Amino acid sequence: MRTHRAVGAALAAALLAASLTACGQNANGVGRDSRKGEDAKGGTIGLAMPTKSSERWIADGRNMAKQFQSKGYKTDLQFGNDDVDEQVAQIENMIAKGHKLIVIAAIDSAALTNVLDRAADANIPVIAYDRLLMGTEHVDYYATFDNFKVGVQQGTYIVDKLGLKEKDGGNPEKGPFNIELFAGSPDDNNTRFFFNGAMSVLKPYIEDKKLVVRSGQTKLNQITTLRWDGGTAQKRMDDLLSASYTSEKVDAVLSPYDGISIGILSALKSVGYGSKSQPYPVITGQDAEKASVKSIMAGEQTQTVYKDTRKLAKATVQMGDAMLTGGEPQVNDTTSYDNGKKVVPAFLLQPVSIDKSNTQLLIDEGYYKPSELK
Ligand code: GAL
Repeated sequence: MRTHRAVGAALAAALLAASLTACGQNANGVGRDSRKGEDAKGGTIGLAMPTKSSERWIADGRNMAKQFQSKGYKTDLQFGNDDVDEQVAQIENMIAKGHKLIVIAAIDSAALTNVLDRAADANIPVIAYDRLLMGTEHVDYYATFDNFKVGVQQGTYIVDKLGLKEKDGGNPEKGPFNIELFAGSPDDNNTRFFFNGAMSVLKPYIEDKKLVVRSGQTKLNQITTLRWDGGTAQKRMDDLLSASYTSEKVDAVLSPYDGISIGILSALKSVGYGSKSQPYPVITGQDAEKASVKSIMAGEQTQTVYKDTRKLAKATVQMGDAMLTGGEPQVNDTTSYDNGKKVVPAFLLQPVSIDKSNTQLLIDEGYYKPSELK
């Protein structure tokens, strides 16, 4: 009798385990059946954005919230104030509330491994938004832009604008030109992609001495900007100008992001750049933020990279909704984004280089109203 009961209990446990395995995962190994289909609709999606200090993240959060809501979900939108502990606490809270899915744009790409373990224990799927989540198996998908290409566009713009490329009618005998290099936050995985993309274009010219980095700071760890902070970049540019450009002029600055470009411009302005006799160097950027687009139109910043956050939100919402309803999340890259634990399937959107000649595109595409750029 006792044996019989023990066998029965073991059998019941085995059956339960088997049924949990069978219904617990979809084809991608994420999500429970109870979260799928109409059950998931009406549930809440957690949106963990890094900061409000840049207008893009506010738009990203707003766009995703709107689009998830129109698909029948509730949303819980949080901004981490560029504080890692605050973001961890916000995600913990989302897990405790039993949200159906969490979308994260990390402040520090590698600092969320523990909290992501807890999301996995609670069977909550996770999408990395624009910034990859590093060092964890518990990230299901990644929605972003082609980050390497962003860097290529910035590097190419500099080379073209300085007229260094022979085949495009440039003059290979021109120069040498002085350039300084800036990179993004060291804890953001994108930083490496932007830098490597830009250097894939710039490096041969630096090696040929057509481009000269007078500060000598060409390694990624010498040129990063913690939290993408414009003030930090301004301070570094002040230092570079006073150490290496008292008699020479700087002709180009590789900047990975508009907030950094604005800081660099302030440093340049303070030592007299921006006049006829001392024009601004070529300065790149990224995000097509309003202040930078206006600066480009005014002839200060030279270039930016437009990444339509509405499209990024749309791709993410498609992924999330598909995961929760048993559909197929759309991906177009399954090789580029290794986070140290797995290659995360990604959907990459295409960035567009913008300068004075095509700012109109932002208006034509409805990204900005004409009045916003006045
Ligand atoms: C990166 C992002 C860039 C820029 C930067 C600073 O992760 O890809 O587009 O927004 O953060 O916010």
